[in-house]
Amino acid sequence: MATHLPVIGGHADGFGRTQRTDGWRRGPLITLIVFLTFIGYTTWAALQGKHYYSDPYLSPFYSPVLFTTPAGMVAGSAPVSHAWFGTFPSWWPSFVPLSPAILILVFPGSFRFTCYYYRKAYYRSFAGSPPACAVGPLAQIRKYRGESYVLLFQNLHRFALYFALLFILILGYDAVLAYFKDGVPGIGVGSVILTINVVLIASYTFGCHSFRHLIGGRKDCLSACGKPTVASVSFKQASWFNARHTEFAWASLLWVMLTDLYVRLCSMGVIHDLSTWSN
Ligand code: FES
Repeated sequence: MATHLPVIGGHADGFGRTQRTDGWRRGPLITLIVFLTFIGYTTWAALQGKHYYSDPYLSPFYSPVLFTTPAGMVAGSAPVSHAWFGTFPSWWPSFVPLSPAILILVFPGSFRFTCYYYRKAYYRSFAGSPPACAVGPLAQIRKYRGESYVLLFQNLHRFALYFALLFILILGYDAVLAYFKDGVPGIGVGSVILTINVVLIASYTFGCHSFRHLIGGRKDCLSACGKPTVASVSFKQASWFNARHTEFAWASLLWVMLTDLYVRLCSMGVIHDLSTWSN
């Protein structure tokens, strides 16, 4: 007697072929557009080297400022007192723009690039491998090899996390400075924008899978005889952020771009920051 077993999953051969009837294209398409916008804007902003500072606001793309230009040389650059190592050294290559962002963007950039969520997103939207569940991939891969060979660099994520944790402190410090102008406490729209920025970035970082593993995921038992411990409570909190990792990934990505734009427009004089320091 012939048996007719149901086929679970699968799709017809060919890119984008599927039996799905929902709007599966929307996700990868939005991801593609937002990522390209972010990459384009960030690259442009990082190469500017100017209008990244509008007292007391510093663009997160340029934080921390390791080197800056001498006072008055470049419009909207951080004061020398803000730079960790003073002005740009004489050995700085002449073909590289005098932009402090060039030195530091690799750290948050590598953290995002190797993030487990973002991997899924860009493997789908950029590589089409596959573009969505149960949809034909761009290239027919005969054998699934996982993240091997050149993709092994994705294992750097756990190390990028350590820098990301450091950046929360740095951006938090910038947010605090955003409430003081010439030593006078106050508040402006920029102060709020910089504060939301660090809160979103911290929320994204605390939901990182590697972070969750670090603070307890690697252990078999977190609580002592059923009683909560620091480790079990922290793990629970990290799990809350982890369950919302996608949302925080998007929100922090868009907000950090908006924060740079706000500081930039203030510095250029295009918009005026509403604040308690305003005359
Ligand atoms: S998994 Fe997304 S930041 Fe670590």
